[in-house]
Amino acid sequence: MNEYDGEELGVRFRLSPPFHIQSRKFIARSAELQQCFACWGIDGETKIMIDDLPPLNFRLEGPPGVGKNEIVYELARQLDRPLYVIQGHEELTPEDLALVLVPDAEESASGAMRFSYNASPLVTALRKGALFFFDEINRVPERTLAPLASVLDERRRIYSALVARDIAPPDELKRGSFRFCCAMNPEGAARGALPEYIDERTLPVIRIDYLPVEDLIAVLENKLVPPKELLDAFRKWYEEEAKTQLSTRQATTLVQYAMAVSRQKKASSLDTIRTASAQVGVKRKGDEAAEDPDEEQSDLEESAQ
Ligand SMILES: Nc1ncnc2c1ncn2[C@@H]1O[C@H](COP(=O)(O)OP(=O)(O)OP(=O)(O)O)[C@@H](O)[C@H]1O
Ligand SMILES: [Mg+2]
Repeated sequence: MNEYDGEELGVRFRLSPPFHIQSRKFIARSAELQQCFACWGIDGETKIMIDDLPPLNFRLEGPPGVGKNEIVYELARQLDRPLYVIQGHEELTPEDLALVLVPDAEESASGAMRFSYNASPLVTALRKGALFFFDEINRVPERTLAPLASVLDERRRIYSALVARDIAPPDELKRGSFRFCCAMNPEGAARGALPEYIDERTLPVIRIDYLPVEDLIAVLENKLVPPKELLDAFRKWYEEEAKTQLSTRQATTLVQYAMAVSRQKKASSLDTIRTASAQVGVKRKGDEAAEDPDEEQSDLEESAQ
């Protein structure tokens, strides 16, 4: 059902639906969660908002697949509050952060083409005083981030060039309960550093690293329920043979693939994990040759002959 807002600003816009958060068992990361709650001025135990200090717009940084999104979802789960999300990408425009004009399906049925305004998840979160998450914020072109500056400081408003209006929370209560966070992988290709004025407004950085093996195993057990033998083989392989640390996503794909393969073919669990790891692109200890791109290339050429 559509929900509208903005009449008192002289523009009627349709609000975004909140992000659908799957119910899922969240494993470990209690120190990181506590840091996030502290930034947002929320008591980690009682989940009560302490509003003697303005909340901080923290930034989660870490390699791909380690669970940055899942942490934000868990915050929303624990707070039992709606979350609004924008996924950053190269084509995102400043209007996508505020209001966009869209054809109005209901009204155009009468024959005449009508348009209406859709509020972005960010505008919706500001108006509702809700939680907001800007994912992959460093993939966004710099000019798109400009209107964000006024959201991230005490002004708490965003300028919509489309309707030439500032949009802010409707009252002090909503203003006080709005919370912002963002995430990025600082090392990835095609992702730049943030412009300084956004960088400064999205601090502190909360670093999210690879899960220790025990926690990784707990995620796998919970998510995939693999046979014990396969999980033991994964642990052995990870501790003794894997050359790099695995993200939660990589480990899940590897073990899921190993489970699928072992249904079809009888091999030892450790061999299955080894084969799957190669296909999931994880280097093993002793795979020195693969580190030299020239040698890797000549290996490929040899095997192609
Ligand atoms: N602590 C955790 N408990 C349970 N599941 C987790 C946990 N951390 C990550 N996962 C699972 O691992 C997968 C990858 O996590 P997520 O998408 O949050 O990573 P990410 O760091 O945001 O990745 P990317 O950098 O690619 O956006 C997801 O399926 C997620 O549900
Ligand atoms: Mg992510």
